[in-house]
Amino acid sequence: MDISRTSDVWWKNAIFYCLDVETFQDGNGDGVGDFVGLTRRLDHLDRLGVSCIWLMPFYPSPNQDDGYDITDYYAIDPRLGTMGEFVEFLRAANDRGMRVIADLVVNHTSREHPWFQSSRSDPSSPYRDWYVWRDEKPEEDASSLVFPGEEESSWTWDAKAGKYYLHRFYSHQPDLNVEHGAVRDEIRRIVGFWLQLGLSGFRVDAVPFLLEQMSTDDKGFAPHRWLRDLRAFINRRSGDAVLLGEVNLDYPDVRRFFGDEDGDELHMCLDFNLNQAMALAIARGDSGPLVHGLRHMPELAEDDGWAHFLRNHDEWSLDKLTEAERQEVFAVFGPDPEMQLFGRGLRRRMPTMLGGDEARLRMAYALMASMPGAPVIFYGEEIGMAENLEIPGRLAVRAPMQWENAPNGGFSSASADQLHRPVVSDPKYAPAKVNAADQQDDAGSFFHFMERLLRRRRECPEISFGRHSVLPMTEAEVFAIRHDWDDRTLIAIVNLGAEARTVTCALPDGAALGKPRPILGDGEVSLKKGQLTVELEGYGLRWIRFEG
Ligand code: NOJ
Repeated sequence: MDISRTSDVWWKNAIFYCLDVETFQDGNGDGVGDFVGLTRRLDHLDRLGVSCIWLMPFYPSPNQDDGYDITDYYAIDPRLGTMGEFVEFLRAANDRGMRVIADLVVNHTSREHPWFQSSRSDPSSPYRDWYVWRDEKPEEDASSLVFPGEEESSWTWDAKAGKYYLHRFYSHQPDLNVEHGAVRDEIRRIVGFWLQLGLSGFRVDAVPFLLEQMSTDDKGFAPHRWLRDLRAFINRRSGDAVLLGEVNLDYPDVRRFFGDEDGDELHMCLDFNLNQAMALAIARGDSGPLVHGLRHMPELAEDDGWAHFLRNHDEWSLDKLTEAERQEVFAVFGPDPEMQLFGRGLRRRMPTMLGGDEARLRMAYALMASMPGAPVIFYGEEIGMAENLEIPGRLAVRAPMQWENAPNGGFSSASADQLHRPVVSDPKYAPAKVNAADQQDDAGSFFHFMERLLRRRRECPEISFGRHSVLPMTEAEVFAIRHDWDDRTLIAIVNLGAEARTVTCALPDGAALGKPRPILGDGEVSLKKGQLTVELEGYGLRWIRFEG
């Protein structure tokens, strides 16, 4: 693929930034973030090098699952603003060269959605078949529960309907029945609506559940054909729109959601497999899990890509690790049971898990940004924000953004008790210590490092467009990956260990690659007789560019 095509498939080399409007910036002093506030903060994202903002759900919702329970797919939650303010925000983001995608949550609605209310109330309602109803409670395997300890079953009795309904998530989130043609038509209308307003695509929530086929009688619904149709539809409406899927399955199963060889289903998937390999590798200070993970990463079609992240808005799910590995990560990153969730994950952010060690934190983000795919940053990661464990469950990592050393961290002018969610209170990580304004003024800050990292990452399309190969290293603590594309080569080397070291790796074609030019990190680099030698500090990192 040559460089002129990279902008057509912009998603492959994008810098994604996930945020929740509700906790980003309050523009009217009511304690809840909104689109007016977010619009005022766009320059921060622009400066960071963000090229695509991913908005968590902003639709009307009773907010029993932080907006992932929707009551109207064609509107804005009035607490967050008006449709006019949304469009202003979109325009201002586009004006700065940033695209916007949004969560598409159509596996389920809120129980309060008028469709569900009609469906349960009247057997002859046109919405009756929009949900999955059963007279008898189907048998189920406890291991299939998404929220063990919080939900006992994926089927709940509805007295009004006199039937059980399916909900893969909370009982207040009944699953839509995509096998019903009218539901699929409605989903098209929803995506068409937001594309028309200017979104550049969607982060598709819970894709495997969305495509799940529940009926025994074959009504001609073929889940993957439908996903293919959906991609074709959005790209007819908007040639550059992207579907970024949440598919937390093992690699071979995730691969199926990209479509067959032509890759005509999801354009991208969040890479949960490599994410969990990173957790184990960082916890152990050992590159082994990454080498193993990359060996199993399936090949994708040319236009498709992976999206890599360290932490996201949910618990750090470690469900793909073995029980022993998971316990190992728990012991290092979250030994206290109150830091753990559902027996499979951690409700913490990176800085606290890494004991506040900034060198290690930089290493972790450089490692993530070196993986073949596009990086995804969760708001606050760029300033090293911590979690607030006083906020229940997964919401601990969704505290308000810390903008300055001011009341409520500059998030809102409301009184602290009016805030939608409390700010981080741990004095080591509270806004007085960790905030965007101070770090923007300090060239040695973590924010400056992240800005440099992400700017560099944008300049290195070989990471997402090229072929990658893991470079064998004699030291288990050192991870090295090579990306080759279009006459360019980039080598990223990361020291997962605390000890400084000088490492050497064989580059038999080194002479032909051209002069090595270090573009990230510190320490000597030399190439002699097919041997690349690199000095690394403890938790050091280097990106080396060769332009043949
Ligand atoms: C995945 C989202 O990331 C999570 O926050 C949400 O609770 C479920 N899907 C249900 O929508």
